Amino acid sequence: MKIAVLPGDGIGPEIMAEARKVLAALDLPGVILWEGDVGGIGYRRHGQPLPPETLEMARAADAVLFGAVGDPACDGLERHLRPEQAILGLRTALGLFANLRPATMFPGLEDLSGLRPEIAREIDLLIVRELNGDVYFGEKAIRTLDDGRRQGFDFMSYAEDEVRRIAHVGFRAAQGRKGRLCSVDKANVLETSQLWRDVVIEVSAEYPDVELTHMYVDNAAMQLVRNPGQFDTVVTGNLFGDILSDQASMCVGSIGLLASASLGESQTEFGTKGLYEPIHGSAPDIAGTGKANPMAMILSAAMMLRHSFGREADATRIETAVAQALADGVKGADLGGGAGTVEIGDEVLARL
Ligand code: NAD
Ligand code: IPM
Ligand code: MN
Repeated sequence: MKIAVLPGDGIGPEIMAEARKVLAALDLPGVILWEGDVGGIGYRRHGQPLPPETLEMARAADAVLFGAVGDPACDGLERHLRPEQAILGLRTALGLFANLRPATMFPGLEDLSGLRPEIAREIDLLIVRELNGDVYFGEKAIRTLDDGRRQGFDFMSYAEDEVRRIAHVGFRAAQGRKGRLCSVDKANVLETSQLWRDVVIEVSAEYPDVELTHMYVDNAAMQLVRNPGQFDTVVTGNLFGDILSDQASMCVGSIGLLASASLGESQTEFGTKGLYEPIHGSAPDIAGTGKANPMAMILSAAMMLRHSFGREADATRIETAVAQALADGVKGADLGGGAGTVEIGDEVLARL
C-alpha cells in the first residue's frame, strides 16, 4: 500500500505528524510511505508548487495523504506559481472529480456548534462536491478593456458528462445512506446550473429508490443553519460545494473536524485511488503555535483506509477513537479547549 504523504504548508506538517502517528500505531501490513514537497514549500525548494517529482510520486502511489497548502508570502506570485495550484493540479492530473465531505455531529459537541444544540444534534450529512470543473477551471484573466478599465473574468461551465458522472456518485452515495439526494444549484440565474439540474434529473431515472430534490444555493446556505437535519446527501458544483462545506463545518463545531476524500474512476489493486485531506487550509494565523486541531487530518487518514485500501475496520477504529476523545473532553483551541496538536494526537492514539 503505497501512500504519498504531502504535508504542505502552515499547519500541514504539524497535523500530518499526528496522522502518521495514528497510522503507524495500526501497524498495517505492507505500508510504504513516501513524502513529497507541495505548495509554498514546493515552490521554495523546487521553483514550482507541484514539482514534477511530487506529481510522479502521487501518480505512482495508491493513495495521497495531503495536509494543506497556502502561504501568505506567496499571494503576490503569478497564479500558476501559487501554493493552491498544487492541490488544484493534483485533483485534475489524477482525475479526482468526486469530493466527499461528510459532516456529522459528534456526541458531546452539541453545545459547541454555532447552532443551538437541538438543531446541531441532527446533523448527519454528506456533501458530494464536483472537483474538476466549474468556474475553477475555466479561462480566467484580468485584462484591460479598450477604454482602459481593468476587468477580471472567470469562465463558468459544466459539460453534461461532467455533471452526469458526479450525479451518479451523488445517487450512489445517497443509496448507501438515507436515500435522499439534494442537488444544489443556481438554476434560476445560471445556465451552467440549468444544465446541471437537467442532467441530474435525467440521471435520476436510473435511481428510482433515491428521493431527489433541488435547492438554490442561497437557500441551501440558509437551510444549513436553519435545519441542517433535513439534509442527507447533497450534490453540488465545485464552488458551491467549497463554500457550503466550510459552513457545514461550523455547524458541527469546527473546521478542524472535517475530513474529505477526493476520488476518480481509477482503481488500484486495493481500491479506488484517492487523495485525502482536511477541508481546511494551512491556517497561517496559528501555524507554528502547536494549536491546530489534527482531527480532520486523522479522520482523512481513516477515509483513506476505507476508500483506497478497503480497510473498513481500521477506518472505524480511528473514527471511534476520535469520537471517544471528543466525548471525553479532549478539545483544541478551535473548540474552546486547551489541548494542543500533539496532545490531541496522543489522546486519539490512546483510544485506538
Ligand atoms: P483556513 O482553513 O486555513 O483557516 C480558516 C480559519 O480556521 C483560521 O482562523 C484557522 O486558524 C482556522 N483553522 C483551520 N484549520 C484549523 C485546524 N485544523 N485547527 C484549528 N483551527 C483551524 O482558511 P484561510 O485562512 O482562508 O486560508 C489560509 C490558506 O490556506 C490560504 O492560502 C488558502 O488558499 C489555503 N487553503 C488551502 C486548502 C487546501 O490545502 N486544501 C484549503 C483551504 C484553504
Ligand atoms: C479546499 C480549498 C481549495 C478549493 C483551494 C485552496 C484551492 O478551499 O480544498 O476547500 O477551493 O478547493
Ligand atoms: Mn475550501
